[in-house]
Amino acid sequence: MPLNLAVKSSVCALLCLTVSLFAIVKADDPYRFFNWNVTYGDIYPLGVRQQGILINGQFPGPDIHSVTNDNLIINVFNSLKEPFLISWSGIQQRRNSFEDGVNGTTCPIPPGKNFTYILQVKDQIGSFYYFPSLAFHKAAGGFGGIRILSRPRIPVPFPDPAGDYTLLIGDWYKKNHTGLKGILDRGNKLPFPDGILINGRGPKGYSLTVEQGKTYRLRISNVGLQNSLNFRVQNHKMKLVEVEGTHTLQTTYSSLDVHVGQSYSVLITADQPGQDYYIVVSSRFTSQVLTTTGVLHYSNSAGPVSGDPPGGPTVQIDWSLNQARSIRTNLTASGPRPNPQGSYHYGLINTTKTIKISSSAGQVNGKQRYALNSVSYVAPDTPLKLADYFKIDGVFRDGSISYNPYCMDGGQWTSNSRNQYNLRDAVSRSTVQVYPKSWTAIYIALDNVGMWNMRSEFWARQYLGQQFYLRVYTSSTSLRDEFPIPKNALLCGRAAGRHTRPL
Ligand SMILES: *[C@@H]1O[C@H](CO)[C@@H](O)[C@H](O)[C@H]1NC(C)=O
Ligand SMILES: *[C@@H]1O[C@H](CO)[C@@H](O)[C@H](O)[C@H]1NC(C)=O
Ligand SMILES: *[C@@H]1O[C@H](CO)[C@@H](O)[C@H](O)[C@H]1NC(C)=O
Ligand SMILES: *[C@@H]1O[C@H](CO)[C@@H](O)[C@H](O)[C@H]1NC(C)=O
Ligand SMILES: *[C@@H]1O[C@H](CO)[C@@H](O)[C@H](O)[C@H]1NC(C)=O
Ligand SMILES: *[C@@H]1O[C@H](CO)[C@@H](O)[C@H](O)[C@H]1NC(C)=O
Repeated sequence: MPLNLAVKSSVCALLCLTVSLFAIVKADDPYRFFNWNVTYGDIYPLGVRQQGILINGQFPGPDIHSVTNDNLIINVFNSLKEPFLISWSGIQQRRNSFEDGVNGTTCPIPPGKNFTYILQVKDQIGSFYYFPSLAFHKAAGGFGGIRILSRPRIPVPFPDPAGDYTLLIGDWYKKNHTGLKGILDRGNKLPFPDGILINGRGPKGYSLTVEQGKTYRLRISNVGLQNSLNFRVQNHKMKLVEVEGTHTLQTTYSSLDVHVGQSYSVLITADQPGQDYYIVVSSRFTSQVLTTTGVLHYSNSAGPVSGDPPGGPTVQIDWSLNQARSIRTNLTASGPRPNPQGSYHYGLINTTKTIKISSSAGQVNGKQRYALNSVSYVAPDTPLKLADYFKIDGVFRDGSISYNPYCMDGGQWTSNSRNQYNLRDAVSRSTVQVYPKSWTAIYIALDNVGMWNMRSEFWARQYLGQQFYLRVYTSSTSLRDEFPIPKNALLCGRAAGRHTRPL
């Protein structure tokens, strides 16, 4: 049931979609096991002591390395004093929304308890990340990179890099996450962030060593709370090769906008004289520009960084829009399978439904709230997915959000706008930006049964209601459509005490 979504915004908004394409079952794919202990611990990313969320003592958390079709068995021990959940941004959760790790699909892991996620990175490649989804925990850490490599016999459209590194970039506050959550709970907006981190480090804290003449892959994800960021490396060009699981046309950029929630892979060649160079990350679309630097260190370096860090775009929207339009699928390259990515002609499929979503904000009882089509989400007492599974009434209602916003001014979308769509080689991705007073159209094939969270990636807005769940259902109960509820599923709210298997 293909669906066409036009998202309209009066301010830059980011929507995250977890629904996606293709399905085929095959047993005996390899298993990888992870044991994670989630604790609070002291971190000092901007020089002041803060309470961070660590995974196995690490901030950011450990990277997950996997290969297409691997089964990932991740046993998460919650050693915090409050409920905790991890979500897997961009991992497709084929027929398995129970494992999505957001509050509407999965019960929180109670303090002192553990829960084992069972995920399969079915028919996927590329760069993603995980993050804690409850209670503004994301502002304290608990995130890390996820990479899914191609299977050995599947061609990758560029030579093996000499090194492959995750760079998690994001805005950061000196205030701890409970302090930030308190600001939102009292009905206020978040203040401007205090800095930007690269892999948990503040200015000049992060360094990457390269050998002259060699080419490296950098997987850059914006794990921050709200700021679009521009990424660049002094005197070096970047060749974009992959966006959230799609091999792209290999275009060269001197800087790249990475909006919050998004991930990119670039190749960078150490082709400059042997010394150190600035890695620069700066905020976009803000009147006050936040900047941080890291260091690209040549192993034969003759000296430290010199000159000023290179400047980048700041408030320019057209620059960003043009760059976004230049990011396209390489139709002849292979993806997770040997057949070329262009063999799926999404542009030929007729749309069956068009939904228009508009972002809005307002005060409710004197407190700031955010909404989509004027509906602001409030968590019910039972996860929606469990309510659906156990047929518990009164938790959610189908059609509770209109398919049309009440008002949609500025950059008006009309059905004629379809003539401007890229129906050939747009990238498939989980988070898309919408520029101020503009719209973005998204095409989704609703072939993944489940309850899927669609949300603003501006984390304060998500927290204050700018999200909803998209129920993709079928009357069939076949395993081809949806996996059964996991045997170890935690049951909470009005689902507590139910049985995950018929008695
Ligand atoms: C998690 O880490 C804490 C602090 O180091 C420790 O006390 C606890 O035993 C650990 N739990 C597990 C399950 O490893
Ligand atoms: C909790 O961890 C134990 C020990 O590793 C494991 O046997 C058990 O299955 C886990 N529980 C859940 C609900 O995943
Ligand atoms: C697209 O992928 C093909 C197949 O790997 C490759 O030969 C070609 O150079 C790529 N084109 C671009 C523009 O990246
Ligand atoms: C977090 O910040 C609040 C005030 O914003 C403070 O009261 C609390 O002690 C802090 N917690 C920790 C563990 O630092
Ligand atoms: C799309 O609709 C047109 C016109 O109704 C029809 O001719 C065509 O076969 C449809 N395409 C697909 C893929 O269903
Ligand atoms: C998560 O959902 C539960 C009900 O399942 C609700 O009580 C709780 O407030 C929610 N928590 C957050 C952080 O949304």
